[in-house]
Amino acid sequence: MPVISFANAKGGAGKTTAALLLATELAYQGFRVTVIDADPQRWISQWFETSGTVRNIEVVSEVTLASLQCHLREMASRTDYFIIDLAGARDALVTTAIGLSDHVMIPVQGSAMDAKGAAQILDLLSYMKEKAGLVIPHSVVLTRVTSMVTTKALLTIKGLLAARGVHVLDTPIGERIAFKELFETGGTLHTLDQAKVSNLDKAKENARSYAQEVMRLMPVKITRSVASRLFGLGRYAA
Ligand SMILES: Nc1ncnc2c1ncn2[C@@H]1O[C@H](COP(=O)(O)OP(=O)(O)OP(=O)(O)O)[C@@H](O)[C@H]1O
Ligand SMILES: [Mg+2]
Repeated sequence: MPVISFANAKGGAGKTTAALLLATELAYQGFRVTVIDADPQRWISQWFETSGTVRNIEVVSEVTLASLQCHLREMASRTDYFIIDLAGARDALVTTAIGLSDHVMIPVQGSAMDAKGAAQILDLLSYMKEKAGLVIPHSVVLTRVTSMVTTKALLTIKGLLAARGVHVLDTPIGERIAFKELFETGGTLHTLDQAKVSNLDKAKENARSYAQEVMRLMPVKITRSVASRLFGLGRYAA
């Protein structure tokens, strides 16, 4: 089962929102999703508490450096996708979670292109490759994109990242009230009230395309087994 972590050393980049959208969309598609809430601010845990039961989703809270691997091992048999939400930092927990991931998603705000936090994660990934021969696939996902952000600006950002050899998802995550609303009301885009949330259909469409693109990158079957990952066997070669 793929382990997908969301990392950006800068706070407020949109990690938790992107992680929750992916988790809820995959769950809606019928996959069993375990969200590992490795951010001490516990946003996803709070969302889960507000939501009550959400079909196909389990959330693991109070994750520490020592407990992370145990959670992955314990939940492996009943999980199709692991999603790890990380703090806006570059600390030992972030590094360990990245090392255990099949894919790292790096949300970058499309408008500001304040990519410093993203660059820190990209540097960390390069360092892991150089020093440990650990090649961890990763992608930037542009987020909070509004109609103010022109196609040309987005193409420029993609070009800059491509020059660094960084893959960027074709689907950007838009700036949507519905995505914020999830944290207020709990539940998923599919349980929000159409009458109360503007442009809910567009938000759903956006989340679906984004999740489909991630699923194409990370189909359930072609990943390392958790056993090999935890015991250091079969790691990606450089
Ligand atoms: N696509 C979006 N549309 C609307 N609001 C968004 C979107 N993405 C993020 N936000 C808002 O921006 C703020 C920061 O987003 P989020 O919590 O997802 O970032 P983060 O990277 O997880 O932050 P932290 O580093 O503090 O964990 C939140 O108020 C969130 O509701
Ligand atoms: Mg967060």
